[in-house]
Amino acid sequence: MNRRDALKYMGALCAGSVLASTGITALASCSQNPRTKRLIFFFSATGNSLYVSRQLGEEKATLLSISQEIHNENPVYEAEEIGFVCPVYCFLPPAIVQDFIARSTFKADYFFAVGTFGAHSTVFPEFFNNFAKEHGVQMNYISCIQMVDTYLPYFDADREKADPKNQLIPEKIAAVLAAINKHENYILPVTQQDRMIYEGYFRSSGRDRQRPTITRSEKIVFATDACIGCGVCTSVCPHGCWKVVDGHSVPQGECENCLACVHNCPQKAISIIPTPPEPEEPNRNARYRNPNVSLADLIKANSQL
Ligand SMILES: Cc1cc2nc3c(=O)[nH]c(=O)nc-3n(C[C@H](O)[C@H](O)[C@H](O)COP(=O)(O)O)c2cc1C
Repeated sequence: MNRRDALKYMGALCAGSVLASTGITALASCSQNPRTKRLIFFFSATGNSLYVSRQLGEEKATLLSISQEIHNENPVYEAEEIGFVCPVYCFLPPAIVQDFIARSTFKADYFFAVGTFGAHSTVFPEFFNNFAKEHGVQMNYISCIQMVDTYLPYFDADREKADPKNQLIPEKIAAVLAAINKHENYILPVTQQDRMIYEGYFRSSGRDRQRPTITRSEKIVFATDACIGCGVCTSVCPHGCWKVVDGHSVPQGECENCLACVHNCPQKAISIIPTPPEPEEPNRNARYRNPNVSLADLIKANSQL
């Protein structure tokens, strides 16, 4: 077996064994439990939000992946406390998170949400608060935690990993945890500068203001010749966009632009097609996954296979 075949075999083994052993249906099973203490719904492409969910969950919480729960045909959830943790995408909650909230019913005494972001969260808390209210959820607490920025067209992931901002993550998580344990009522305020950044971005990008990152996967990503057809992209994509055809990965379908495929490809064989006015990614060798989260964890959370 040559090196390429060995890597391909290992990739397939990793994806296959994760699916066989984790039992994705187990993730969806606790919606029947009427008085779970703390229920946390998370969406995560590169692990930041999954890591924060785990830290906020402590020992007592049940964590459910939104990528799996979005298929629940009876999405009624009840717990003492219900939380949502997700990345900030173009200053908003990802479309899959919005869709999940819109189609589900939640009953709890206390609701909280945390957005993980890299540079600017701007209007995220206000948008989340209003969106939840429109769908029958009265939020008690919303905050944001700054972490590595995974949006590769603007950020070199290697520089992000080395950024001193990361040293503050543990204390920021601890502060959020203390607040939700005390059932604090707090919505992170949006400043005038936040509004200017937000307005400026949407004016120049021309993106949809409700679902800015939804696009066709084949328009934004492709597998290079370095692809060995291992299939990791097919199992880590929360929208099930990838297929391996004749030993090479091919994207097709509605995509969140989450870049899970790009960051988690073991060969760094997935590239981003620049969408003007966005620049080409500054460092196509720099990829990221939260150091506390494994590829198997993300496959378990996101796989649509
Ligand atoms: C499509 C996309 C859009 C993003 N938009 C923003 C943004 O508007 N503001 C920001 O500060 N970070 C933004 N980010 C960075 C992520 O919010 C951040 O890295 C997050 O912690 C990733 O979470 P995850 O590892 O759980 O997927 C964006 C990332 C992606 C992939």
